[in-house]
Amino acid sequence: MKINRENQQFRLRAGAGLRGTVAVPGDKSISHRAVMLGGIADGVSQVRGWLAAGDTEATLAAMQSLGVRVERADAGTLKIYGGPLRAAAQPLNLMNAGTGIRLLAGIMAGQPFASVLDGSRQLRQRPMKRITQPLQQMGARIEAQAGRCPLRIKPARLHGIEYAMPVASGQVKSAVLLAGLYAEGTTTVLQPGPARDHTERILQAMGAPVEGIESSRVSIAPADRLKPLDITVPGDFSSAAFLLVAGLLVADSDLTLRGINLNPTRIGLLDVLIEMGAQIEVQERGLEAGEPIADLRVRTSELRGIEIGGEVVVRMIDEFPILMVAALNAGGTTTVRDAQELRVKETDRIAVMAQELGRMGAQIDERADGFRIVGRQHLKGAVVDGHDDHRIAMSMTIAGLTAQGETLVQDAACAGDSFPGFAETLRAVGAELALEGVE
Ligand code: S3P
Repeated sequence: MKINRENQQFRLRAGAGLRGTVAVPGDKSISHRAVMLGGIADGVSQVRGWLAAGDTEATLAAMQSLGVRVERADAGTLKIYGGPLRAAAQPLNLMNAGTGIRLLAGIMAGQPFASVLDGSRQLRQRPMKRITQPLQQMGARIEAQAGRCPLRIKPARLHGIEYAMPVASGQVKSAVLLAGLYAEGTTTVLQPGPARDHTERILQAMGAPVEGIESSRVSIAPADRLKPLDITVPGDFSSAAFLLVAGLLVADSDLTLRGINLNPTRIGLLDVLIEMGAQIEVQERGLEAGEPIADLRVRTSELRGIEIGGEVVVRMIDEFPILMVAALNAGGTTTVRDAQELRVKETDRIAVMAQELGRMGAQIDERADGFRIVGRQHLKGAVVDGHDDHRIAMSMTIAGLTAQGETLVQDAACAGDSFPGFAETLRAVGAELALEGVE
């Protein structure tokens, strides 16, 4: 039977010896930004290594609905004809993409036409006030429903503001800076922590007057012209994270992950794993798209638990589900605090991971802003669920590789929201995993 989004599942069992050299798909955060910014650039942008995944394809389709012509030489090679946008005939559907809707809202707030931004049932449950509030302060006419999408945006004159972000968020910072491209005067964002900075880096490469990159105070003024992009999207560290942890935990493994983006705002997990005792070699490969690139070689390692909190949390915010799997297999206790943002991701990632790992026999002590895990727990294979959240489905798959017996990950297709070919990549390095459809 046909395997589609609704019925895909992974059936797997623990094995040994994950070996080989693999590339991971392009960075999701950079791919979203490349297609949005390419779409409003003055000229034709070239994007190679584009992530053709659920989330980013939703953003690409939204840009096309706004009149942007995109030619594809192949799935990952785009030619984007940028220029003024025009009103879309229908509401824009960003599906499950939080980055897609929040960043696009910043751009739409500055357009001379109205728009409606919407998404999946899951996206409709995620908080939007964090962007509507600062955008309204800039003069935007943007309405949400009880702080949730659909977002209805009407044309308005924007003015620059100085905005102190209450939480360190790459999406909020980007929405405000992107609206700043259309505002009178300077727009400044004060960040309480090092939120990812791809928007600033790409805008700078396009000639926009951005200041304060890598500082806690970033500002932007309207650009006379945004130069088109010529960019090769590097491998996504957040996708590499699943293979890194698999390589550390599965006995007798030696994996090399090629071309991974090591932007310092993204690699908190690398720092944490090394502190936990991971053997990871970093072979630097220079810069790509203004971002530092490296190959990562990982070998099976004995890990020990640590305490995690403070500034590293935002630099590894997407990696806590897979960190939980590492912590369960480490010696000693791992404690995480300051990570309450995990509760408003695609799912409540603390609760959902505790529940799904619980099906495998794990005991996780949930906290409001994190969790505590006593290590060396022996997981048992079980039937678990991905909850339409890509990082849950992939983390549970890696958990299955460390468990005794067979694991079935249901609702697994969502892995393709950020990592198309996840199952095939694991199989290519020796995992015993089958991709199945169910009636
Ligand atoms: C992202 C920012 C983060 C992250 C998300 C991608 C981005 O969200 O969790 O996966 O591309 O800017 P927050 O800004 O909500 O922390």
